[in-house]
Parts: sequence; C-alpha cells; structure tokens
Amino acid sequence: MSALRAVLVGAGPMGRAWAETIRGHPDVRLVCWVDLVVDRVVQGVQELRLGDVAADDDLLAALDRHAPDFVVDVSVPGAHHEVTAACLDRRVAVLGEKPMAATLEEARDLVERSERSVTLFVVSQNRRYNQGLVAFRGLLAEELGELGQLNVEFYRAPHFGGFRDEMDSPLLVDMAIHAFDAARYLSGSDPLSVSCSELNPPWSWYRGAASAVADFELDNGAHFSYQGSWCAAGHETSWDGSWRAVAARGSALWDGTTDPVAELLPGDDGSTRTVRAGPASIPGPGIAGSLADFVDALRKDRTPMGECHDNIKSLAMVSAALESSRTGRRVRLDSGR
Ligand SMILES: NC(=O)c1ccc[n+]([C@@H]2O[C@H](COP(=O)([O-])OP(=O)(O)OC[C@H]3O[C@@H](n4cnc5c(N)ncnc54)[C@H](O)[C@@H]3O)[C@@H](O)[C@H]2O)c1
Repeated sequence: MSALRAVLVGAGPMGRAWAETIRGHPDVRLVCWVDLVVDRVVQGVQELRLGDVAADDDLLAALDRHAPDFVVDVSVPGAHHEVTAACLDRRVAVLGEKPMAATLEEARDLVERSERSVTLFVVSQNRRYNQGLVAFRGLLAEELGELGQLNVEFYRAPHFGGFRDEMDSPLLVDMAIHAFDAARYLSGSDPLSVSCSELNPPWSWYRGAASAVADFELDNGAHFSYQGSWCAAGHETSWDGSWRAVAARGSALWDGTTDPVAELLPGDDGSTRTVRAGPASIPGPGIAGSLADFVDALRKDRTPMGECHDNIKSLAMVSAALESSRTGRRVRLDSGR
C-alpha cells in the first residue's frame, strides 16, 4: 500500500510544525506545500530539510498537479473557508487547524459542502491528544459519577505582538476554543446556553478584551465555567488551564501538567479514597495525534475526533459567548447548526 499524498497549506510557525509532523508519519508523503508567500515555503523546505517537496503559491494548481489524498490547512483563520471549500468541492479530504472558519456561517457552509461531496473534513483540536486530558476524562467517567460542575481557570501573560494584540476579543476568539472543546470532550455533553462577560483590565497590553468569564449550561444538567485572562501575571496556570470537576462521588483536579487526581467520598472505614490517573494511551501527542487519528480514519473509512459535524459545536460556543458578552444577555445555542 503506497503512502497517502498530502498537500500542506500555510507556512507560518504552525505550518512548519505541521510540516515536521507530516514528515514523521510513516504512512504520509508531503508532496507539495502552498503559501501565498511562496518564499516562506522555499525557506521552510530548506531549513527543515524536506527534500523534494514542491513549493507553490496557487492551491488550485497544486490540487490539479499533485492529486493529493488530503490537504492540511494551516492558513490564517480568515482563509480557512476559501481553502477548505476549494478542496471539498474537488472531493479532497481536509484536516484543518482550528478554528474551523472565521465565522459560524462560514463553518456551516463547510459542513454542508462536506456532506454534499461526501468528503471527510476534520478540525484538529490538538489538546484532545494530551495524555493528561484523556486521563482526566477517564477519571471523570470511571470514578466520579454524575457531573455537577466543571471549572477551568486559564491565567497567563504572553506578549505575542501581532494580530492578537489588535483583535476585539483575543482570548475568546483565539484561545478559549481549546478549553470550550475540552469541556465538551470531558463532560460528553453539549452546551445549551451561555452567559459571558469580557473585560480588558487597565494594565492590559491588548487593544481588545483580554479577559473573560463564561458560564455554560450543559445538556446533562451540569455547568461548565470558564475564567481566563491573557494579561494575568503571577501564579500562571498551564496552557491547558487548571481544571476542577465536582461530581456525585467526589471531586477531581487536573492542573494541565501533573497527573489528574480525584478525592472520592469516604468508604466504609470513613477514609477518603484518592485516585491518581496515570498517563492515558493516545495515538500521538498534540498535532501528531490529530494526524494519526485522521489518517487511520481515512484508511478505515471511520469518523475521527474533530469531524466537522461535531467540531462546529465548539465554534458555536465561542460564537454564543461573544454574542452574550456583546448583548449582556444569556444566549441559547442551537446545537451548532
Ligand atoms: N492548535 C494550536 O495550538 C495552534 C497554535 C498556533 C496557531 N494555530 C492555528 O494555526 C493557523 C496558522 O497559524 P500561524 O500562527 O502559523 O499563522 P501565520 O499568520 O503566522 O501563518 C499563516 C500562513 O498562511 C498563509 N496564507 C494565508 N492565506 C492563505 C491562502 N489563502 N492560501 C495559502 N496560504 C495562505 C500566510 O501567507 C501565512 O504564511 C491558524 O488557524 C491558527 O489559529 C493553532
């Protein structure tokens, strides 16, 4: 069986990470790398020593010339719709970076194109391929019983420079989707409604709202609360945040770095049982896991994590949180479609 042929779109820092990840997959061959600024591709091919990978600045020409089995879209969010639509309309499967598209309307259109063309479209939510997150999910499912509250705190103080500093809602639009998607994954539930407020503290170096608090009502009756800031110096959390699940049989914590741990109700002898979850099994870490899952799904004609019908629900959480923040009202979600 010959390796699957991939075309990569986007040669920014994340595109480079994907180029190296694709090279590391034994069943995939990167045949072409496309960027509007082709010099970035040429430089990337040289510096990463990718050998005979073709460089192009025209996606449609590259699709015709190289007939790939799939495209990995790591372009800017504003180009995700254009790139993915072009591929799906030619029945070329797509593994795209988050967010699925710049708006929910564009994302809905891509889901329809995936259906119409009967072509797989998956969004890589690389945090789902984190041994700690998977282990935390296992702890919730196996030990804790009915979930009441799921909380995450995300507090960091990065100075990115560039587009994030100029966005209206940098935290909600560029970062919170990781936690929102993880909450759906951990709880096995989808949100029904959200109340959200954004703020930009006086000391913030961002133009738009760098901090947010959101409360989601989930369809299993539990609530998921998110508290985050990108201008919170001191006692920073991990990039995965710091989680607490409160459930019928006890509570569990995961700080994003060490093993998740649960404290369970006193047993017959009156003592509290502590359960520490070891690293879970994953197809690979981060984007390597996304790629491995996607390739296996293509080979076996099955549905992987992040398939567009499911992933749009995470984008819908961002969209509804933004609407709530702007209107000051609780917003109902319409299951993402
Ligand atoms: N999952 C994560 O942890 C994570 C981390 C960083 C970035 N990302 C995502 O990865 C994507 C890229 O991020 P980045 O930081 O590399 O961005 P970037 O802006 O540095 O690079 C994007 C590249 O895409 C190219 N491009 C834009 N439109 C194009 C088009 N229509 N056709 C071909 N090329 C096009 C640009 O010229 C640029 O070189 C974004 O969607 C971002 O949200 C995800």
